[in-house]
Amino acid sequence: MVGPEGVVEDVVYSQSIHADYGGVVPELAARAHVEKIVAVVRRALDSLDGQPPDAVAATAGPGLIGAVLVGLSFGKALAAGWDVPFVGVNHLEGHLLSPTLEPDGPAFPYLCLVVSGGHTTLYMAHDVGRYETLGQTVDDAAGEAFDKVGRMLELGYPGGPVVDRTAAGGRGDAVPFPRPDPGGLDWSFSGLKTAVRQHLQRPDRASTPDVCASFQAAVVDCLADRVLRAAKQTGVRRVGLAGGVAANGALRERFAALDLDVTVPPRHRCTDNGAMIAHAGRLRLLAGERHPLSLGARPRWSPSEPAEVPR
Ligand code: KG4
Ligand code: ZN
Repeated sequence: MVGPEGVVEDVVYSQSIHADYGGVVPELAARAHVEKIVAVVRRALDSLDGQPPDAVAATAGPGLIGAVLVGLSFGKALAAGWDVPFVGVNHLEGHLLSPTLEPDGPAFPYLCLVVSGGHTTLYMAHDVGRYETLGQTVDDAAGEAFDKVGRMLELGYPGGPVVDRTAAGGRGDAVPFPRPDPGGLDWSFSGLKTAVRQHLQRPDRASTPDVCASFQAAVVDCLADRVLRAAKQTGVRRVGLAGGVAANGALRERFAALDLDVTVPPRHRCTDNGAMIAHAGRLRLLAGERHPLSLGARPRWSPSEPAEVPR
């Protein structure tokens, strides 16, 4: 829940069930949403003392449709019950605008690197609803690469946090993994992932902490390189970091040290959270937007496209 002063309540429930399966099982994710959503929303509403909020925002996509449908339907039901405006939010827009939730967050226009499980995209955020894609991965997302390397090393799922922790005991320069560069402002991580797999088959392979630290160093180098390139090309020096991978210690350190005006939100505002969706929804509402309760869920949806699909 957010208001003019920022975040009022932020309740997050993270599903641990996926660790048992080594990845997200869509059907199980949706069922867990059904089971947890009432308790999570109830807790977030505690501070309202029974008063309804001014409006309700819920994620309408993109993502696993079963889980999205649970939150979207629940949000609409609340809006209908309270008779308050409803707005469907693009999950990526939630990440994109999350740096502006910070007290010293960037003003428009700013460059935003969204690095999550499914996306690695560099946007120029011109204004609320006006996002230009400057670069993106041509194959795996950075988070996906972390998850795959975590699996190769049998460290469990999701790989990102555990590779990050394991890397703390290793040297980033132990293994000279490649820094693939498909040109322009794009990334490619599948070759790096293959290089890790091939390295692990060598009899003289490095220790697991060294492999994690070296892999992480390569990812961080690639991410920082394109952002520096984009700042040079566009002249925009304000940069926001967003998405689950932005919780990575080495990435946060590198970005904080860049000779640019960088906002690195706290870790719990980088991984998926309700505050970023409420924030994006609030900015959309303030811009005059609201959606009918017939709004559909979108498995694919660029944050620059309107929420409603013309029929
Ligand atoms: O944004 P997010 O929470 O969910 C999506 O919208 O995808 O991002 C999840 C991704 C996963 O791939 C996870 O492994 C990665 O973020 N991640 C990390 C860290 N924490 C989460 N990657 C690297 N280091 C971390 N500390
Ligand atoms: Zn996300």
